[in-house]
Amino acid sequence: MRVFVTGASGFIGSAVVPELINAGHQVVGLARSDTSAAALTAAGAEVHRGALDDLAALRAGAAASDGVIHLAFIHDFSQFENAAAVDLRAIEALGSALEGSGRPLVVASGTLGLRPGRVATENDMPEEGPGGGLRAASARAALAFAGRGVRSSIVRLAPSVHGEGDHGFVPALIATAREKGVSGYVGDGAARWPAVHRLDAAELFRLALEKAPAGSALHGTEEEGVPVRDIAGAIGRHLGVPVASVDPGEAAGHFGWMGAALAADTPTSSALTRELLGWRPARPGLLADLAAGHYFGGPAA
Ligand SMILES: NC(=O)c1ccc[n+]([C@@H]2O[C@H](COP(=O)([O-])OP(=O)(O)OC[C@H]3O[C@@H](n4cnc5c(N)ncnc54)[C@H](OP(=O)(O)O)[C@@H]3O)[C@@H](O)[C@H]2O)c1
Repeated sequence: MRVFVTGASGFIGSAVVPELINAGHQVVGLARSDTSAAALTAAGAEVHRGALDDLAALRAGAAASDGVIHLAFIHDFSQFENAAAVDLRAIEALGSALEGSGRPLVVASGTLGLRPGRVATENDMPEEGPGGGLRAASARAALAFAGRGVRSSIVRLAPSVHGEGDHGFVPALIATAREKGVSGYVGDGAARWPAVHRLDAAELFRLALEKAPAGSALHGTEEEGVPVRDIAGAIGRHLGVPVASVDPGEAAGHFGWMGAALAADTPTSSALTRELLGWRPARPGLLADLAAGHYFGGPAA
């Protein structure tokens, strides 16, 4: 397939591109800068210039493809509502270009905030509104294209997609532990965080492109939930700093934008996804990946 990939130069996209090429697909990646364009060319992809707010470029890229994987997202948590709105418009543009074609549109989303307190499944849909639900409108819009002749699906990723090059939650936790001199967790630290290795996530995007039925909500969670206390413990060991509880009332002050997410118990199953697509994630789990040392520049002492 000739696959149009947005966010192809990002942390996950740069794993999705070789995953697709190695499976015999052609990749056309969206690039908004010379740097990203050069990275895509080096990875063996064609370049389609444009940005997320250039809807004509998105429509043209999708129309000239046999399928789309949408990974680009503006990760500016100070203006998340704007990022979510840009994402929604981009999905509308990509989907409308594929309307009536039966071609696949695979859209990245997240599990955070899906159903705190119990194991969330693919059958759960998030509430719209603040918190993890801000991307709910995008997810619904993507799935709605199933009724308009698009084989659309969403891949809800664990909040920690980990591996070399990670610049998400785990590096931010490590930076906070370095800055504060303590590796913290909220309350008793029992809150569970789903996790998935970047290479396993990339494989899931390929499988979704190739065979997810229209309207599928899929889960990119290899581990249902790793207790935050254990993640903090691994970080503390590596940095040689104490591991300690942070009072829930002080979580926002201590962890900043991550406070609420760290306190939320959000275990998430991917059993239905594995059964549907034959996805078999096999890379190291989050704690094993932390023990490998690349997050810290080397293995623990
Ligand atoms: N990483 C995680 O732990 C995680 C967890 C849950 C969900 N997700 C979701 O998975 C998807 C991919 O995440 P990621 O970690 O790979 O993100 P990332 O490393 O931050 O990469 C973001 C990608 O989006 C592109 N992009 C950003 N703003 C753009 C714009 N205005 N126009 C065009 N392209 C733009 C970037 O291009 P440049 O190269 O030009 O910057 C880059 O290719 C996102 O939807 C993300 O929210 C990720």
